[in-house]
Amino acid sequence: MKKSLLDYILRVRLPITIFVILASFTVTYFASRAERDNVGYSPVQPINFSHKLHAGEMKIDCEYCHTGVELSRHAMVPPPQTCMNCHSIARKDKPEIIKLTTYYKEDKPIPWVRVHRVPDFVYFNHSVHVNMGIKCESCHGNVAQMDRIVQVHSFTMSACLSCHRNAQKNLPYLKNIKNGPENCYACHR
Ligand code: HEC
Ligand code: HEC
Ligand code: HEC
Ligand code: HEC
Ligand code: HEC
Repeated sequence: MKKSLLDYILRVRLPITIFVILASFTVTYFASRAERDNVGYSPVQPINFSHKLHAGEMKIDCEYCHTGVELSRHAMVPPPQTCMNCHSIARKDKPEIIKLTTYYKEDKPIPWVRVHRVPDFVYFNHSVHVNMGIKCESCHGNVAQMDRIVQVHSFTMSACLSCHRNAQKNLPYLKNIKNGPENCYACHR
């Protein structure tokens, strides 16, 4: 009796248990990788702001709104004031502009959902890359054609490194660009 119970556990239950554990590890592993990869992420935003309209059709310079790109680590998203430079007049009766005006009047930041992000333990600096002549497009895709922002390239460690190792090939429009750093301390300081 005892022997056959042990036999049953080893023969039937144990393989099932091992299978379940392995399967759940695999699923968790790939799910967390997909989450880190982030490609295709395109959350609905609190105001239906279109880059295609503003940066594409109206040709407003990226830097008019993203004032940090040449100056600091962060590109920065503009405060409602920047929008109100035009929307205190333009389209002010439209529902989305009424929403915008309400944030502005109540002096509240617009709760834009962040799309691109590297973890806190990674050092990334916009101004360094942009001042070398790397176009926004090389990392963010063709934003001027996007109604809603979507992440098109991954920002995993291997993605950073694959450009750093072969910068000239990845950035054919720049002449004699040097490779980026590969030493750990450059990005983890
Ligand atoms: C009129 C202001 C304005 C202009 C011009 C503008 N942007 Fe934006 N940008 C915003 C706002 C507001 C957001 C946040 C809302 C959103 O994601 O749509 C944003 C978000 C982004 C994001 C995503 C940020 C994140 O959360 O990861 C990227 C990338 C971006 N802009 C790139 C560009 C590029 C490239 C250009 C020029 C081709 C540009 N923007 C021009 C206002 C602007
Ligand atoms: C340089 C002027 C300018 C700036 C700055 C600007 N906009 Fe606009 N925006 C316009 C104009 C003009 C239109 C109407 C364009 C059209 O419909 O042809 C418009 C249209 C819009 C619309 C569509 C309104 C509708 O018809 O329903 C939204 C939403 C909007 N803007 C949000 C924003 C937000 C949010 C910001 C700040 C991040 C911003 N805009 C900054 C000029 C501007
Ligand atoms: C070399 C790649 C690269 C280039 C070039 C680049 N970006 Fe980014 N961008 C990133 C990364 C990586 C993040 C996430 C940064 C973080 O989490 O700190 C990001 C985040 C952003 C954000 C979110 C807010 C912020 O400050 O982090 C905006 C807006 C943005 N980029 C706009 C731009 C614009 C506009 C340009 C061109 C003038 C540009 N980027 C050029 C890689 C790049
Ligand atoms: C499209 C190409 C490209 C991508 C993508 C890219 N880089 Fe770079 N990066 C470069 C080049 C080219 C250099 C420096 C070349 C030189 O020194 O002239 C550089 C330099 C750097 C430096 C050294 C300068 C500084 O800021 O201290 C750091 C750190 C860095 N990159 C971090 C990152 C991180 C983190 C990512 C990914 C989130 C990333 N880069 C993605 C091209 C890229
Ligand atoms: C060009 C920038 C860059 C360089 C150089 C770099 N890393 Fe990273 N590293 C990143 C980015 C971005 C992430 C976060 C995204 C990810 O996990 O892929 C990361 C994540 C990590 C993680 C966490 C991985 C995880 O599973 O969460 C470790 C550990 C790490 N790096 C170690 C290293 C070591 C060791 C070196 C040197 C051999 C190194 N890194 C060099 C950009 C870099």
